[in-house]
Amino acid sequence: MKLSRRRFMQTVAAGAAVSGWQLPIFGQSSQLNTLKIPELYYGDMRSGVNHYALTAQSGTVDFLPGLRTPTIGINGDYLGPTLRLMNGDDVAIAVRNQLGEETTLHWHGLHVPAKVDGGPAQIIAAGAEWNPQFRVSQKAGSFWYHSHMLHQTGAQVYRGLSGMIIIDDEDSSKLELPAEYGVDDIPLIVQDRRFNADGSFRYIGMHMDVMTGMYGDTILVNGTGAALFTPTTQRVRFRLLTAANARSFNFAFDDNREFQLIASDSGLLSAPVTLHHLELAPAERAEIVVNFSDGAPVKLVSLPLDANSPFTPQGMMRNMLPMNSTPIQILAIAPQSQLESRVEIPDQLAEIQRISASEAQHVRRFTLSMPMGMGMMNMRASGGRGQMGNMGNEFQINGKTMDMATINERVNMGDTEIWEITNDSMMMHPFHIHQGQFQILDRNGVPPPAAEMGFKDTLRVGPGETARIIMRFEHFADPETAYMYHCHILEHEDNGMMGQFTVS
Ligand code: C2O
Ligand code: CU
Ligand code: CU
Repeated sequence: MKLSRRRFMQTVAAGAAVSGWQLPIFGQSSQLNTLKIPELYYGDMRSGVNHYALTAQSGTVDFLPGLRTPTIGINGDYLGPTLRLMNGDDVAIAVRNQLGEETTLHWHGLHVPAKVDGGPAQIIAAGAEWNPQFRVSQKAGSFWYHSHMLHQTGAQVYRGLSGMIIIDDEDSSKLELPAEYGVDDIPLIVQDRRFNADGSFRYIGMHMDVMTGMYGDTILVNGTGAALFTPTTQRVRFRLLTAANARSFNFAFDDNREFQLIASDSGLLSAPVTLHHLELAPAERAEIVVNFSDGAPVKLVSLPLDANSPFTPQGMMRNMLPMNSTPIQILAIAPQSQLESRVEIPDQLAEIQRISASEAQHVRRFTLSMPMGMGMMNMRASGGRGQMGNMGNEFQINGKTMDMATINERVNMGDTEIWEITNDSMMMHPFHIHQGQFQILDRNGVPPPAAEMGFKDTLRVGPGETARIIMRFEHFADPETAYMYHCHILEHEDNGMMGQFTVS
């Protein structure tokens, strides 16, 4: 199979010249870099408690040839280790902050008490240590952790403060799925970044970077630019995590091969779903299984959003957004010549009880809006290069911007609720709720596709759409400490599109 390797190298060399690749190959060169795999971290079991030690620290990375980028990371220069947790385990995490600035660390998608959730109230001062403890109580899935510092989440995540969490449970460990981490079970933390000429990250250069959220022109996967992965097995499970600040991806392969979706945000689906492409917004995750037994080189790409997709920007946002109008290369894949054949994919993955709308005790309504005040007018007058400022009320939920002193909603412990989320703006917002998992009932009255029939913690709401989710609020009663709900475009979150709720 030397041939296919050579064909691959030709494909790669030609890749830079393929027109329509707006973000083609990293740094305009055809040089590929081996995909980095974040270290797997199982923790230290001591007297029945699994201990983890995480240090937020600063560092540097040579993302671009010959240039040094100042970064931050967890136990390293950029991103952090993959935390592996088991359902039912008691976990103690020591989070040390050596950043020289305040931060927080949030466990996105974990069903934990608000006090240890790592939201904007759980500030870790510079030099301090934070010691959350909790019991893992949820099904297997791919989750993540990231800074949730008020007004600074976007900047801190951009500089590197995030990582993956994998939860296993008894049922998932018995499933015949690719499960050897770093071999046939591969995390893909996908981000886009922009750089200054000196190699430093460029974060928010103009007002539009706030309006649309921060878009980059260079793709990093697990912190690797122009990444190359070499499968050694026929089937590979990819755990996709969109850890970009604002960009959505429409994942596909450049030869249009099919793949099986086995898990969405918050765990395994009831059965695999065969797809040719998969759209994921910031903070959404998916696990897919891809068959490489033909040995052919292929690229994981992001296709343009479908013009009539309900998530496509509308009206003037359509012209303003530099988003997703051309294909983007995410990952080059070159299978090695001998592929080990391993598992088949089971037909049944997990038991998912759909929650019926009739179980809800309460309906709450949320309207997401971008009132487009002075800031927007500045931006239009200056062709997108307007000054920052006047951005205080550009992003709202129910007409309000985030205020740490306001509890927006109070949920009764034990209730099942329907949250009806209306998007009254011209672009999609990925809406995320802390505390646990929900199911999507419908969008504009239409039930979601099979790919979204499992449990989730983040959902896309398209412009003009009303989506309904149903969620159980159980286990944790604490009238003092709030959970967050917010848009996961981090610049929207940082500028007000967030609210707080308690469960008691
Ligand atoms: Cu991914 Cu409120 O967080
Ligand atoms: Cu979260
Ligand atoms: Cu938003």
